[in-house]
Amino acid sequence: MEIQKIGVIGAGQMGSGIAQVAAQSGYEVVLMDVEELSLKKGLEAIRRSLDRFLRKEKITQEEADATLARIKTTLNPADFADCDLVVEAIVENESVKGKLFQTLDKVVKPEAVFASNTSSIPITKLASYTTRPERFIGMHFMNPVPLMKLVEVIRGYKTTDEVTRLVMATAEKMGKVPVEVNDYPGFVSNRVLIPMLNEAIQAVMEGVATPEAIDTVMKLGMNHPMGPLTLADFIGLDTVLAIMEVLYEGFGDSKYRPSPLLKKMVQAGLLGRKSGQGFYKYDEKGNKIGS
Ligand code: NAI
Repeated sequence: MEIQKIGVIGAGQMGSGIAQVAAQSGYEVVLMDVEELSLKKGLEAIRRSLDRFLRKEKITQEEADATLARIKTTLNPADFADCDLVVEAIVENESVKGKLFQTLDKVVKPEAVFASNTSSIPITKLASYTTRPERFIGMHFMNPVPLMKLVEVIRGYKTTDEVTRLVMATAEKMGKVPVEVNDYPGFVSNRVLIPMLNEAIQAVMEGVATPEAIDTVMKLGMNHPMGPLTLADFIGLDTVLAIMEVLYEGFGDSKYRPSPLLKKMVQAGLLGRKSGQGFYKYDEKGNKIGS
């Protein structure tokens, strides 16, 4: 089987980026959302990103135009009927994703592969909403999709070798580096990253050092591009907490206990960059303005 047409569902931050890289690599793309406005915003984000590549002379005007011409938008899942691969990137909610996959299972041709970009919901669980768990896989892109190289490819319990190979090859054709992992809570990326952020938050709570000091230690000492507390603010403290809870529940091990300070900040509405305050303060454009 060869992938020619890719359906992307959810035109938000991740879905618009996935649609862009797929179209840039020559695939025919159908991008779907539940709202016309989201589709419009998604296409605008794609245009802005292509413009940046154009200004840096990474692509030509013809390539930018051809990319846009390969993307069709729709509000109707029936338009995915003849897609070879459907990548889901909607809200991180199991029952909403589950309902969508039940609908897709009925309208998309049976040999098509389904992929989810979920950051924390078990792939095996999502696959169980369909009659094709063998053809269901995780394709976990990183944000911002057009710039980040990694795609974590997550095999569900029943995912076949053939589907895994096909999806790895498709990610490579999109210019990405796919890495195969198995379906355990947090996969690899979030299982290793998020407890580190939680530990940095715990260190703030215990008064070990200030957020600035902790970030400086990790930036200069470990050569990380961004300190853990800056990164936690960037991801969103509510998201960090939600992933810690998935790890805690999934493994039942106290080493994944969310920091009480993290919980308290989320309860207080301090969610990081998106709410204007987390470990640091931000202006309306999301620029850091202090602590
Ligand atoms: P977002 O909120 O920017 O976009 C979600 C889009 O899905 C919205 O446009 C919304 O209108 C649409 N949508 C919601 N329900 C829908 C439905 N039933 N059918 C069609 N469209 C629907 O969210 P974002 O950040 O793009 O995240 C999407 C997925 O990617 C989530 O599963 C998230 O966990 C995952 N992810 C997010 C990362 C990030 O850094 N933001 C990184 C890696 C994965």
